[in-house]
Amino acid sequence: MASIKELPTRPATRFERIGAHTHIKGLGLDENLKAVRIKDGMVGQERAREAAGLVVQMIKEGKLSGKTVIFAGPPGTGKTAIAVAISKELGENVPFIQMSGSEIYSSERKKTEILIEAIRKCIGVEIHEMRKVYEGELTSMDIKTASHPYNPYQKVPESIRLTLKTQDEEKTIEAGSTIAQQVIQENISEGYIIQIDAETGRVVNLGVSMESTKGQTYDIDTRKKIPRPQGKVLKEKEFVYTLTLAGMDEINARQRMGGGIFSLFMGGAQTKEIDTEIRTAVDEAVKKMVDEEKAFIHPGVLFIDDSHLLDLEAFSFLGRAIESELVPIIILATNRGVTTIRGTDVKSPMGFPLDLVDRSVIIGTEDYDADSIREILKTRSKEEKIDIKENALEKITEVGAKTSLRYSVQLLSLAAQNAKSAKRKDVTVKDVERVSNLFMDVSEATQHLKKYDDKMMVH
Ligand SMILES: Nc1ncnc2c1ncn2[C@@H]1O[C@H](COP(=O)(O)OP(=O)(O)OP(=O)(O)O)[C@@H](O)[C@H]1O
Ligand SMILES: [Mg+2]
Repeated sequence: MASIKELPTRPATRFERIGAHTHIKGLGLDENLKAVRIKDGMVGQERAREAAGLVVQMIKEGKLSGKTVIFAGPPGTGKTAIAVAISKELGENVPFIQMSGSEIYSSERKKTEILIEAIRKCIGVEIHEMRKVYEGELTSMDIKTASHPYNPYQKVPESIRLTLKTQDEEKTIEAGSTIAQQVIQENISEGYIIQIDAETGRVVNLGVSMESTKGQTYDIDTRKKIPRPQGKVLKEKEFVYTLTLAGMDEINARQRMGGGIFSLFMGGAQTKEIDTEIRTAVDEAVKKMVDEEKAFIHPGVLFIDDSHLLDLEAFSFLGRAIESELVPIIILATNRGVTTIRGTDVKSPMGFPLDLVDRSVIIGTEDYDADSIREILKTRSKEEKIDIKENALEKITEVGAKTSLRYSVQLLSLAAQNAKSAKRKDVTVKDVERVSNLFMDVSEATQHLKKYDDKMMVH
């Protein structure tokens, strides 16, 4: 007998990723855009959340493009959390790009190039296009083959004759080798409803016709069944698709490079940077389409976290970009007070140039009191599926109020891990005490470093 061993099926263990902001589901506002103290994973910070609510409403109505919003406040007060909530509130159709100020420093690309690309990724263009297509159920087809020019023993499709049928008409068309190849590749045969773009020759397989003999058999079949189309075989149809400006730049750049072969062999575009010329051409084309009501712009959001890391060059570029026509809403977040603008020795609020601050609306975030910290910790323990005893929660809250919200959130996970390693289900005060003995908060760390000041390495 063959030695076949049956292995037990492995239980599906799912790797759950819990990030710093996974508990944030939205801004937690009511229908009048008033903040509910605890909602959608958000706790407190009402003023900033309500301000963010107004911003979201204006973005949705397309009124805020080219504006800048600054989140300013001490570390760990929810600036990034509120920005994440904004992206949740906006939904999937509004592009939301998140980057950190540090991302502009790359040795391969110019800073402004990185910013331009980010800006263009945030602008959605909904294009409505009328295209001439042949559409109908394939009732008969005939492929003519010829010998391959380099290999006479191999046959290649040379042309194809197709008969397409709608409810009202039947038409036979003849096409060349590219269409014939697509039909073979897509496994298209009689009974399918297909669509051929009259200009580009792209063939799309829409599904099986319900009226065909194929559509009427009861085989187990995953192919979509659709009714035979009405009207003429050759018709104009409206197609709607949404691209971003960055996506359009890339398509254009690839086409200019001669496309095909490069992208086939090298696996995609070769350019690290896209020519200004291409961008201008794309902008022109988009503006023209918007004027003709063939395209609609959906400005999204570019969120630059830790934006005090941008330098003067980047700020002046952003300042200029804000005033051009196709720009998203720019949200900056920083925890810096009055400090020098990077790349200069000039001091300014948040380390931003004054003219940029002047053009922006500023939303401030504030430190949390013990009550808010307790509630945020509760939300986090639910998110991380941690069972915690009431007095243990109280203990971490105390630590949080003394040190910082972030530190207490970390301590919560550590205490849970400690309980787990001791094979206990609930997190108790003992767990909290143990981990706060094992780890240090900032002030403890500072004291520790001071104590060993003369023994620490300085270079
Ligand atoms: N109001 C809130 N409700 C719920 N969770 C919050 C709230 N504020 C902050 N948090 C959570 O606390 C942690 C720290 O907040 P966050 O990272 O948003 O701070 P930040 O203001 O961006 O700080 P930094 O200036 O250091 O970047 C995160 O895990 C965040 O999700
Ligand atoms: Mg942050």
